[in-house]
Amino acid sequence: MAEEKILVVDDDVGMLTLLRNYLRREGYEVTTAPSAETALLMLEEHEVAAVLTDLRMPGMDGMELVREIHAARPDTQVLLMTAFGSIDTAVEAIKAGAYHFVSKPVKLPELGALVRKALMERELRLENRQLRQAVEERYAFGQLLGKSAVMQRLFTLLERLAATSSTVLIQGESGTGKELVARALHYHGLRRQHPFVPVNCAAMPEGLLESELFGHTRGAFTGAQIARRGLFLEASRGTIFLDEIGEMPLGMQAKLLRVLEQRQIRPVGSDREIDVDVRVLAATNQDLGAAVQRGKFREDLYYRLNVMLVRVPPIREHREDITLLAELFLQRHLTANHLAPRRFTRQALHTLEHYSWPGNVRELSHVIERAVTLSTGEWIDVADLGLEAEGHLPGSPSSGPTHRTAPATSVVPEDTLNLDAITQSLVGAALQQTRGHKGQAAALLGIHPRTLTRMMRRYSMPDEV
Ligand SMILES: Nc1ncnc2c1ncn2[C@@H]1O[C@H](COP(=O)(O)OP(=O)(O)OP(=O)(O)O)[C@@H](O)[C@H]1O
Ligand SMILES: [Mg+2]
Repeated sequence: MAEEKILVVDDDVGMLTLLRNYLRREGYEVTTAPSAETALLMLEEHEVAAVLTDLRMPGMDGMELVREIHAARPDTQVLLMTAFGSIDTAVEAIKAGAYHFVSKPVKLPELGALVRKALMERELRLENRQLRQAVEERYAFGQLLGKSAVMQRLFTLLERLAATSSTVLIQGESGTGKELVARALHYHGLRRQHPFVPVNCAAMPEGLLESELFGHTRGAFTGAQIARRGLFLEASRGTIFLDEIGEMPLGMQAKLLRVLEQRQIRPVGSDREIDVDVRVLAATNQDLGAAVQRGKFREDLYYRLNVMLVRVPPIREHREDITLLAELFLQRHLTANHLAPRRFTRQALHTLEHYSWPGNVRELSHVIERAVTLSTGEWIDVADLGLEAEGHLPGSPSSGPTHRTAPATSVVPEDTLNLDAITQSLVGAALQQTRGHKGQAAALLGIHPRTLTRMMRRYSMPDEV
């Protein structure tokens, strides 16, 4: 590993020399600055891992320097030293963004330990950020998450479809993320600057649905006082999302087919057709083919929609994603409610992975939310999930006292702790996927192999998978 750079700032040359020599002996690359102003200039030029600064200096003082560095380079850890330390100064320093406060006379071994700790935390933070980026880049498409092969294939397909304006039928069970798919298609496509307009076709009687979609002229029907543009025109140059299309009344289906073929709408009460430029996305949790058989859905519309079919898989077809989804939902709920870090016990994760999830990802999200509300303390255990009442889970561990692993004693700041569980599960998954090949696993995660090794050590993960 390259030596980490430390910048020491003090107006006392003797102090500078003492600290520089000590820190060099400790193996760091050290530069010095006689004032805060010089330090800021040097920081412009060089990436520095930590700054050790005196508080009282002529010109800009150490506290101000802490603020400046914290605002411009939050990844640089700053330690503030002073002979005139009071609790108040220490508190102010921490608030200003200092990593720690050191009172003079400085005890060198103590300082050394503090610097090591500061640098280690910085490294953890950077690693976690890298990993989070990897999640965002690889394991997400819009708001959709998933690292399984099934979901990755779905993302590839969506990426291609997003670049087009074709009509797409999104088919999947309840709670699988169909609406997220529709939004992702819109917001990754050329129309993203224009409106995305969702319409629930099941929520309205036929007459109302038609004027909702196509608008109406003034006085077109009783109660229609003002002319209404309709959602197709609202969605102009954007996307309209016809949710639960399987519930659309047959009469409307005929009109929709005409819109899809002619790209024109006719407002209720009008004798004029209006051109529309709108991408149509439709979703259903029904088997439309079967609905056609039953005479509930028009065959011609079915074939028109079925040209571009996106099938969103139920969770049972990508169980590999359960841990990732659960960890991310957990972090989301904790953050949203400003709660301290919590983790799943191994048994809780096992239960989640083996449950049947009839309500798919939506149900998973709700179960996690409920578990966060019901659990107390650091661990979320099987009982907190409230899934046991739903019957025996295949392959679940026999009941009995659950073994809780002692939490690792931690010097890690909170936002890092939050991510520990995610990190660990991602690293585990990558290693499994590559059958323990560390180089490949690191490449998959988008991190340096050395970082992977460090992470494995940190989480006491075995070398062999
Ligand atoms: N792959 C996923 N990644 C992250 N969140 C997801 C995923 N799939 C679903 N969700 C979440 O689950 C919930 C349900 O998703 P959505 O509303 O898109 O489902 P749906 O398929 O439209 O369901 P329904 O048929 O009941 O309308 C939402 O809160 C959504 O954010
Ligand atoms: Mg939906």
